[in-house]
Amino acid sequence: MKMSKRLESLQPYLFVEIGRRIAEKKARGEEVISFGIGDPDIPTPPHIIERLCQAAQDPANHRYPESAGLPELRKTIAEWYKKRFGVSLDADKEVLPLVGSKEGVAHIAWCFIDPGDIALVPDPAYPVFSVGTMLAGGTPYYMPLVADNDFLPNLDTIPAHILEKAKLLWINYPNNPTGAVADIDFFNRVVKFAQQHDLAVCHDAPYSEVAFDGYQPVSFLQAEGAKEVGIEFHSLSKSYNMTGWRIGMAVGNAEMIDALRRVKSNLDSGIPQAIQYAAIEALTGPQDCIQEHNAVYQRRRDLVVDMLNSIGLEAKPPKASLYVWAKVPQGYTSVEFTNDLLEKIGVVVTPGTGYGSSGEGYIRVSLTIPDAGLVKGLSRLAGWRSTKRIAW
Ligand SMILES: Cc1ncc(COP(=O)(O)O)c(C=O)c1O
Repeated sequence: MKMSKRLESLQPYLFVEIGRRIAEKKARGEEVISFGIGDPDIPTPPHIIERLCQAAQDPANHRYPESAGLPELRKTIAEWYKKRFGVSLDADKEVLPLVGSKEGVAHIAWCFIDPGDIALVPDPAYPVFSVGTMLAGGTPYYMPLVADNDFLPNLDTIPAHILEKAKLLWINYPNNPTGAVADIDFFNRVVKFAQQHDLAVCHDAPYSEVAFDGYQPVSFLQAEGAKEVGIEFHSLSKSYNMTGWRIGMAVGNAEMIDALRRVKSNLDSGIPQAIQYAAIEALTGPQDCIQEHNAVYQRRRDLVVDMLNSIGLEAKPPKASLYVWAKVPQGYTSVEFTNDLLEKIGVVVTPGTGYGSSGEGYIRVSLTIPDAGLVKGLSRLAGWRSTKRIAW
């Protein structure tokens, strides 16, 4: 068989490789504690599941869904944006439900990127921004996210010849993997920059509802003129523990939404309708679950940050997201340290370089681990430190 060059250019998806190594260890009878993937461990709230089961019984929901999503879902999303962010959206032109936000994040490249085009992609970042670009034949230009600039891209350092070929600008706050957040001033600057350089902005915001200490993330669409230059990707995955149901949305600029709808209508046949009804329930039903989940993550965040700092891994408590971004001990690369933790104490974290070369020197620790595992994992980490000290 002759596979495409495009396929050959793909690295194995980070979590597939980590999953393979965990499976190997488990097959040897070893217990592995994973702080790897950001997949909420708390179940989907019962009222959402009930609505899903009810909708699954209705034969009307057994047939092909519309790829543009149920009109009632689009309306619900528009109303949620108004209530949560004060942003007005036209439910028919500016809202598009997705089969999980990953799907839209990957497919938007097909709307903008031709071979030779450039997408501006943060580094480190959720890998799908660059993978989507490469699958469409384009090239990512990486914008380093560094601690000195609060993990925001320094747009002024992007060379003019890159900007000439760039069509898309990716940003993501609250950020995966760094846990950084952005304020409205940053988003206002992004809008101006996009206008100056004729860029379409894609802001990926699946963690906007996962926030701590009373902090409330803002939407990119709250920035002045944002809807003229960009869209925001959103997801029910992390807000309502619905990663398994696969539902998200893109909202904002009508031309971009229409382009994405055109690509999608040729590729997928929509989101199972029972899941769309569950999403309506999630967005309109009781919202206490969000605060309850955040309280759990906040407690875990504090335990993780304290432990990491106590063993010499510098980490700051993030204001939002499901991740702690910590510095590896001196003398290790991210991958060496990650491997060491897995081999010696059976603890999985992800290497910063899995998200891009600027992630070197860091690991990402996910907070989506049940408390019992968390406590065990943290005590193993404490043990690792004392072993290593002797070796130093
Ligand atoms: C930044 C970012 N975008 C998108 C996604 C995908 O979310 P969804 O489950 O909606 O596809 C993730 C998942 O981890 C993510 O971290």
